[in-house]
Amino acid sequence: MNSQNEGAAETGGADNRDARDADRVVIFDTTLRDGEQSPGCSMNLEEKIQVADVLERMGVDVIEAGFPIASRGDFEAVNKIAKRVKDSAVAGLARATVKDIDRAWEALRPAERPRIHTFLSTSPLHMKHKLQMEPEDVHQAVIDSVTHARNLCPDVEWSPEDGTRTEHDFLCRTVESAIKAGAGTINIPDTVGYTVPEEFHELIAMLMNRVPNIDQAIISVHCHNDLGLAVANSLAAVRAGARQVECTINGIGERAGNCSMEEVVMALRTRHDAMPYTTGIDTTMITKASHLLSAVTGFTVQPNKAIVGANAFAHEAGIHQDGMLKHAGTYEIMTPESVGLNRSTLVMGKHSGRHAFQSKLEELGFTLGDNELNDAFQRFKDLADHKKDVYDEDIVALVDDAVLRHNDRIKFGSLQVVCGSKGPQKAELELEVDGVAHSESAEGNGPVDAVFQAIRKIFPHDGRLQLYQVHAVTGGTDAQAEVTVRLEEAGKSVNGQGADYDTLVASARAYINALNKLLVKREKTAPAAISA
Ligand code: KIV
Ligand code: ZN
Repeated sequence: MNSQNEGAAETGGADNRDARDADRVVIFDTTLRDGEQSPGCSMNLEEKIQVADVLERMGVDVIEAGFPIASRGDFEAVNKIAKRVKDSAVAGLARATVKDIDRAWEALRPAERPRIHTFLSTSPLHMKHKLQMEPEDVHQAVIDSVTHARNLCPDVEWSPEDGTRTEHDFLCRTVESAIKAGAGTINIPDTVGYTVPEEFHELIAMLMNRVPNIDQAIISVHCHNDLGLAVANSLAAVRAGARQVECTINGIGERAGNCSMEEVVMALRTRHDAMPYTTGIDTTMITKASHLLSAVTGFTVQPNKAIVGANAFAHEAGIHQDGMLKHAGTYEIMTPESVGLNRSTLVMGKHSGRHAFQSKLEELGFTLGDNELNDAFQRFKDLADHKKDVYDEDIVALVDDAVLRHNDRIKFGSLQVVCGSKGPQKAELELEVDGVAHSESAEGNGPVDAVFQAIRKIFPHDGRLQLYQVHAVTGGTDAQAEVTVRLEEAGKSVNGQGADYDTLVASARAYINALNKLLVKREKTAPAAISA
């Protein structure tokens, strides 16, 4: 437990502020709320718990676990995480209504350090067109909602949605009233990713100067990445006095995403000379958290993504490699080890034993239970029989595929495909649906189409295929194929992933994975006002 959070349950965020190091930046992770809200990033309960466990272990101060009123699944996830997490505060989102706030509190109540995060739009555009409320009524609703939340929970955060497009006088007035009503954290969202660093710095400085009771709250920032400026804007705000940054692993989130946690944390750490602020994050957990999130969401990060992309620490150019051999600092501003990436050369093969496999998994950031380990080891052995060298990327793909899907309603059984130039292409497929085995065969326009037709015969659904993408996990003709499938149903889209040394099996697995996510998504009925 860090000292910063310790006081929150008794005193609320405001008093807590005095007790902590003035240069300490609170990391508020919203991967499970704003991140999970974005298209294709749905997680089931078990996946959310796995992510929450990693966030807690890496030292995240506040985990925003979900939006309890959004669905039964969201409520359950926030409630389970609230019961389980001990070292981080657990937040739940609520609109400015009694019903939302009560529901959030019901979910959060068991937490050691619960936080209700309530929000209401304050920009002229949102008030007029989205809320259809007059500014005076919005102001009163802020006071009422924060007061109600504070009567339930000692730690309340308030956000003026679309804060960066809000008139300054009105922003100051609502912030002052929210603090008076008991909010210990005031979060300024750049909801549509519109601001730029200098402007955001000025906005935060303006609030610090003009709001008379601002010293009784922590200023937080919540930046979206529509212009690719979320991290730069967040850092500019910290320089102006903000001491909480809201962010997500891999920068996932609505539209272009949220501020990326790994980038903001590593920027503060690497450029401490220019930005003398600290966080409580154990940065060596970053790679693990990133891999886990990619695995559970199917959202892989681009190879050149800062900090966690596959190429972030790769040096291909001869001149760079030569410099690196002489002194790593020539081309490396931070070490791979500092983000938990080991420069391992251990390549696995069919003679590698269970123990070596387990060490490799741990090195890659996976800690599996006995059953999961057995499943993964079986898959590894099978792969190693078909592939001479098994690389880290193969193992990540395999663990993702073999282990993280075991709660799925629909499970892959077996597949036989007839393909080639003579046609017709035909697939014979076995699936397990809710524990019952089914088999079907289907013809199609090509083998992939035949496989997908067979899935539709076994499990009829309205989902439309929007994307089918294959990439080789490593080089060589024996490389595993990693397939991504995007399905869309009733305006909701999900991404599924599957990996196998057989491209058609990988395709079936990816489709089934997407279908399972669609089933989870069907349960969700997000309230209209969730636009952030
Ligand atoms: O982007 C946004 O405005 C949000 C709020 C709910 C904080 O996500
Ligand atoms: Zn947001």
